[in-house]
Amino acid sequence: MAADQACIAFLKWCLPELGLRWPGYRKVRRLVGKRLNRRLVELGLDNLDAYRALLLREPGEWARLDVMCRIPISRFYRDRHIFDAIGGQVLPAAATAAETRGDAVLRCWSAGCACGEEPYTLALLWRFAVAADRPRLDFAVIATDSDEVMLRRAEAACYGRSSLKDLPPEWIARAFLRSGDLLCLLPEFRREVRFALQDIRRSMPDGPFDLILCRNLVFTYFDEAVQRHLLSRMVERLVPRGYLVLGAHEALPAEGTGLVAIRHGLPIYRRAVEDQGELVGR
Ligand SMILES: C[S@@+](CC[C@H](N)C(=O)[O-])C[C@H]1O[C@@H](n2cnc3c(N)ncnc32)[C@H](O)[C@@H]1O
Repeated sequence: MAADQACIAFLKWCLPELGLRWPGYRKVRRLVGKRLNRRLVELGLDNLDAYRALLLREPGEWARLDVMCRIPISRFYRDRHIFDAIGGQVLPAAATAAETRGDAVLRCWSAGCACGEEPYTLALLWRFAVAADRPRLDFAVIATDSDEVMLRRAEAACYGRSSLKDLPPEWIARAFLRSGDLLCLLPEFRREVRFALQDIRRSMPDGPFDLILCRNLVFTYFDEAVQRHLLSRMVERLVPRGYLVLGAHEALPAEGTGLVAIRHGLPIYRRAVEDQGELVGR
């Protein structure tokens, strides 16, 4: 079985080949290490050196390795201060802009949506914090992920208590129904969210979007060249002054992104337009 040091050396070798970056995996390497150990058993291999040799012999195995490098961690209202800002500032401002343009729907995309925790959090925020003031505006979220199993769980929308620990208790009481050990989101809070199987490196929903959440995926695990490429494609899908939200510990790859931060210290950006002298960031 592969020890931690062998796993680190192996990941530092293979991740760049996959367009992924080691610093993103440092904290979650044991999860990937467990999967690698299971794969070694399946293949009857003794160690990661043997697996490396197999990858060099059989290019088809790289796709299996890529799947083993997906990190599934998520929860509702993850990074509370960010969702507080989305509910208090971003959604109301985006809704005003959409109404000014004469749009009937506020459109959002949750990229790398895991089991639905993030897009359903958006739907709950809209319903409990914004919708009452916007009776004429509909709300729609497209949520994409490359993992079919996670998307099936997202459609089922039933969760253990720990996934909901950051949600306001009154939202849980109003929006979830107990089913054994799980809490299931009521259908009326699910209907605005649609799920699609997509690998973000190969396809993206069309847009345009008022708000894109791309958190704890591209800007943590992908290498800088891939980050830059995907970022420019995301920015193209934003309406003028549309919002892009990253994870709490993520940053944009470099200057010249076409985005400006809405506030120092918060990973929430707006698509830049000519007259945005008042905004900070890049
Ligand atoms: C760490 S989770 C983040 C979930 C959520 N965005 C959050 O911040 O809580 C990363 C998600 O991205 C998905 N993912 C990984 N690679 C992907 C890819 N190439 N295209 C789309 N989704 C991907 C994983 O399956 C997983 O559900």
